[in-house]
Amino acid sequence: MFSFFKKKNAPASITASITDFSFLGCDMHSHMVPGIDDGSQSLEDSIRFVTKLSELGFKKLITTPHIHGEMYDNDTIKVQSYFKKLQEYVQEHIPDLSIGVSAEYFLDNYFQDEVLPKGLMPFANNNVLVEVSMAGWPRNFKDLIFNVQANGYRPILAHPERYLYETDTKIYEDLKAKGILLQMNLLSITGYYGKTVQDNATKMMERNLYDLCGTDLHHERHLAKIESMPAQYPEIMCKLNEYGFKNKELY
Ligand SMILES: [Fe+2]
Repeated sequence: MFSFFKKKNAPASITASITDFSFLGCDMHSHMVPGIDDGSQSLEDSIRFVTKLSELGFKKLITTPHIHGEMYDNDTIKVQSYFKKLQEYVQEHIPDLSIGVSAEYFLDNYFQDEVLPKGLMPFANNNVLVEVSMAGWPRNFKDLIFNVQANGYRPILAHPERYLYETDTKIYEDLKAKGILLQMNLLSITGYYGKTVQDNATKMMERNLYDLCGTDLHHERHLAKIESMPAQYPEIMCKLNEYGFKNKELY
């Protein structure tokens, strides 16, 4: 949503302020299935989160709990059953909001051997969100990600700006050339995860490497920071609005 100030002769960039996230429309990365990962731990919290995201201008939410062999022993059946009550609440109480569930798949050998062969939970046709370790690329990263494609899915790599071991954007240019999408975390650009992550995100936006922007919302502190963005970071909000993220193509 836009609001216009009547400031005579002011540059265009400061005459329009972005007051919410309706320019994104869809959030495709969050942890709001209660009690299943390091995200929301109760249905009450999840309800508060989805209600607030709706008030902040999102029309569609795809929530993506971790499926991570060593840390979160989740699978499609468990994720869908834990999601059901949240979905029912939204359908009854926030009819303007569409909500769906998928997962954030951790790429490792467990994924390759145990998760992928059983089938993934794609969203908006064949998209799946994937992440890698914060400690370093998996040795077989390219095999892992291309196997996702070979099984008919389109991988979206979550928050590349947070993989601090990678200092060269070349690998992301290569991935994009092979049809893999890149997703920035909304809070990365504010410095929430530190200066290096912020600098990485800025550089990747300048090079037009991102396709999508997601909240990666886990808890109240994330929500409070996201909520503060329009007032606290008006210039960042303008840049995000002007960037041309393709979240709305996921409708
Ligand atoms: Fe996440």
